[in-house]
Amino acid sequence: MDFGIWNEKYSVKNIIIDEQHRKLLDILYRLEKMVTRGKDHSEMVKLLSEMSDYANAHFKSEERYMEKIGYPNLSEHQKLHSQYSLEVLRFTLHHLDDNPNNARDVLNFLTHWWTDHILKVDMDYSVFAEKHEFAH
Ligand SMILES: [Fe+2]
Repeated sequence: MDFGIWNEKYSVKNIIIDEQHRKLLDILYRLEKMVTRGKDHSEMVKLLSEMSDYANAHFKSEERYMEKIGYPNLSEHQKLHSQYSLEVLRFTLHHLDDNPNNARDVLNFLTHWWTDHILKVDMDYSVFAEKHEFAH
């Protein structure tokens, strides 16, 4: 099993969500390897669209969890998810099509979005869950 760039610091103390984050970061790791090897761009587009589907499923699951624990900032968090789904991935795919040399920028952007989102935005519900003894 490839653990990509996931490590304990990304843990939101929920085994299901951690596993989903691990998979998303693993996709980024695979993209990183593709960019480094100068892989065919159609393969990158395929993996990015796979990532988009997986991210949408993950967002739904994460939002259900936040609802379950009564997390007070759910709607703000949901907005960030929809912004990602509607704009970010579309932008990255378009950007990639425009100029294949931009693949590295796209990858850096996505890696930054995900690591920043998990460590700052997701970690906030994790702290809330822990305080209210929902973490497991
Ligand atoms: Fe999130």
